[in-house]
Amino acid sequence: MVQTAADLAGKDLPAAPVRTESSRRLRPDIVGPEIPGSPFPIYLSGDVQRGFGRGGKDLGCPTANLPDESLPPMSTVTQTGVYFGYAQVPDAAEGDNGVLPMVMSLGYNPFYGNKQLTAEIHIMHEFKSDFYGRGMKAVVLGYIRPELDYVSREGLIEDIETDKRVALKSLARPGYEQYQADSHFTTLDQQNPKL
Ligand SMILES: Cc1cc2nc3c(=O)[nH]c(=O)nc-3n(C[C@H](O)[C@H](O)[C@H](O)COP(=O)(O)O)c2cc1C
Repeated sequence: MVQTAADLAGKDLPAAPVRTESSRRLRPDIVGPEIPGSPFPIYLSGDVQRGFGRGGKDLGCPTANLPDESLPPMSTVTQTGVYFGYAQVPDAAEGDNGVLPMVMSLGYNPFYGNKQLTAEIHIMHEFKSDFYGRGMKAVVLGYIRPELDYVSREGLIEDIETDKRVALKSLARPGYEQYQADSHFTTLDQQNPKL
């Protein structure tokens, strides 16, 4: 039976591989087929929660955490790791319907040794203020890499910067760009007035 990321939640996990110099050098700058294939696209929505706050302070990469109730659609992916796609925070973002490129970390953040699975989205945009408590919608379109452990914070920061470049390049293809105009981002959610 396929183990999903949701199945893995709360279970004892093997240690994440440690990032090495050769894995750093071998990273491709574009990932995924020309058009997103199964299990993508995956649609997510929920109210933004506070994480531990280290993303912004330690890593220069603020992340918005999605609540556990919004994660069941991610049970179709089998791996924890870094994903990419688009996200929208109504009223918080300017331009293009507020639908912006994002990278998402799904997992246990082995560098920090979290005990619970989290889904954290970094939206590639300079926001003027934080948006905790606001509704967020996202579409996940592809997978970049597994989550790794690091011997230094600088190594993690460097990989996150590469993740962002890979995501932007991978999204800059017509088969991906079309999702910026997806009805997921324009249809009101009857259950949640913030979305
Ligand atoms: C694109 C991206 C990639 C990440 N990759 C890893 C990783 O490989 N290993 C890891 O331990 N944490 C990774 N993280 C998670 C950071 O450790 C996490 O965002 C940080 O712990 C901040 O979380 P907090 O704001 O809840 O404190 C990644 C985060 C992002 C946004």
